[in-house]
Amino acid sequence: MTHLSQESEPTEVLRDRIAAVLGRARDRSIRLTEAVDDDDLVRQHSPIMSPLVWDLAHVGNQEELWLVRDVGGRDPVRRDIDELYDAFKHPRKDRPALPLLGPVEARSYVATVRDKVFDLLDGFRFDGRRLVADGFAFGMIAQHEQQHDETMLATHQLRAGPPVLSAPPPPAAVVPVTGEVLIPAGPFVMGTSTDPWALDNERPGHLVDLPAYVLDAAPVTNAEYLAFVADGGYAEPRWWSGPGWRYRSAEGLSAPMHWQRDGGDWGYRRFGRFAPLVPDEPVVHVGYHEAEAYAAWAGKRLPTEAEWEKAARWDPVSGRSRRYPWGDEDPTPEHANLGQRHLAPAPVGAYPAGASPLGVHQLIGDVWEWTSSPFQGYPGFTAFPYREYSEVFFGSDHRVLRGGSFGTDPVACRGTFRNWDLPIRRQIFSGFRCARDARPDEVA
Ligand SMILES: [Fe+2]
Repeated sequence: MTHLSQESEPTEVLRDRIAAVLGRARDRSIRLTEAVDDDDLVRQHSPIMSPLVWDLAHVGNQEELWLVRDVGGRDPVRRDIDELYDAFKHPRKDRPALPLLGPVEARSYVATVRDKVFDLLDGFRFDGRRLVADGFAFGMIAQHEQQHDETMLATHQLRAGPPVLSAPPPPAAVVPVTGEVLIPAGPFVMGTSTDPWALDNERPGHLVDLPAYVLDAAPVTNAEYLAFVADGGYAEPRWWSGPGWRYRSAEGLSAPMHWQRDGGDWGYRRFGRFAPLVPDEPVVHVGYHEAEAYAAWAGKRLPTEAEWEKAARWDPVSGRSRRYPWGDEDPTPEHANLGQRHLAPAPVGAYPAGASPLGVHQLIGDVWEWTSSPFQGYPGFTAFPYREYSEVFFGSDHRVLRGGSFGTDPVACRGTFRNWDLPIRRQIFSGFRCARDARPDEVA
């Protein structure tokens, strides 16, 4: 990049940060799409997922629409393909039948778009429109690509065949983490009005007053979840909601997705490799209905979204809401299992540096955590920059998930970040932890 000495340091720093996060996202997209051959790229590995080659060109098309055309005011690269890559025009199950760009064309397209974006970024001044203030549009596009990279990782997990991805195992547990943490009653600021790359559904910051509650110090582990399975939890309707039981019965569920029996013992198929369950690893690939049933069996409930966020952000010393459980600084590898560095959740107790001041562990990274909250706009919500980012999903159909997973990049994961999905979805890297109301003797 050109270095213009008369420009303010923050603008240069911002450009460098944007270039770095865009580059990191692209490296990951390339790794995930080069790991398989062209047949695999164009094939649909599950009706609920897109072919990988659709995700790749869709990432480029969104980048073209927002950065090349809107922010940059440049001529279209491929206006003719906009419709093919509009996620609202074609459900995932129909995407393989579309006249999509092939692997060679898709790679060339995303590279052309990226070249234009770097050309635009060189010397770009982040002033004038709200869309570009603090580099928001660039940050939005980097987050979008990373979200698709996580989706592509989930597609890899659904793919049959020999393993093609590998990564070092996550760190071992270094501290024992068990039991529950009492979160005292009182107000906290939920959401944010100031985090520059926070998306519309995270805004605005607003006060939420909660009674005292108790939250598990760690996500529910495989060993804990196995106890529910072994206790006949999947055969006992009283633990399940009406819709949950109907879903469990219709699908014949008996364990989390990707669990398989090996003789008498349960194991897990992860990116093409079968291994015994790791007892102290957070359970992953459970849907909302399963999480809710487990919580009922355990005599607890799922936390609300506000309860999750207060535990993750509220600093009891200052009373302030911070960006992460450990403070305001961006995640490092010591804080959390993010960014596909490892292709599995880390055992409970592996990230003491990422714990909250009250001692809640692994809120960020490892597994997305189901909350009991439907996805709704916060008081004062305004759609930005477009309704289709979040507003069209508001309502009672989806439940909010928080905290990111081992497949989530740090740029797309904050204490305020909100993910949402249907209660039946299990292909995502989803787990949970339980909560309960505080008893009077606990708050006296
Ligand atoms: Fe998308």
